[in-house]
Amino acid sequence: MSKPAFQEIVSAIRQFRDQAKDLTALQTFTVNLIAERLPYYNWTGFYMLDPNDSATLVLGPFHGAPTEHVRIPVTEGICGAAVAQGETVIVDDVSSDPRYLACSIETRSEIVVPIRAHGKVVGEIDIDSHDLSAFGPEDRGFLEECASLIGEFIEQSELKPKS
Ligand code: SME
Repeated sequence: MSKPAFQEIVSAIRQFRDQAKDLTALQTFTVNLIAERLPYYNWTGFYMLDPNDSATLVLGPFHGAPTEHVRIPVTEGICGAAVAQGETVIVDDVSSDPRYLACSIETRSEIVVPIRAHGKVVGEIDIDSHDLSAFGPEDRGFLEECASLIGEFIEQSELKPKS
């Protein structure tokens, strides 16, 4: 994670997290900041496992074109693969990956990074780019850091009394 923008975004998310009122606020802040600072991240969004159906991902806050994929079974898509494997999935050319569920005809590459709380996958960050092979090891490190910050927030929110 060496690009200066990555470091700055992680610091800003960490700072916002310390006073975020809830998970949706933190996720909304994150997708908007990423979209503003990283022009090749053309669609940025969260999918979280449905608390009532852990075999299905549900679309959360996102920035970019609306998608028809508001619920994705964990057996489908690049999004499902990241949950099933429990690790980051990078696809350099979505047109050559049969798992890919299309959101936009402009998308060329995708990265999906699981979010863990108490060691278990609870959701993921999904990014699409209009560029081929847009995501390398630095993007992966940056997004895994973002996913850890969100996972820690989820763990800490569970300890707070509901107001
Ligand atoms: N491409 C994803 C579906 C979600 S959209 O990118 C927003 C997939 O293959 O799972």
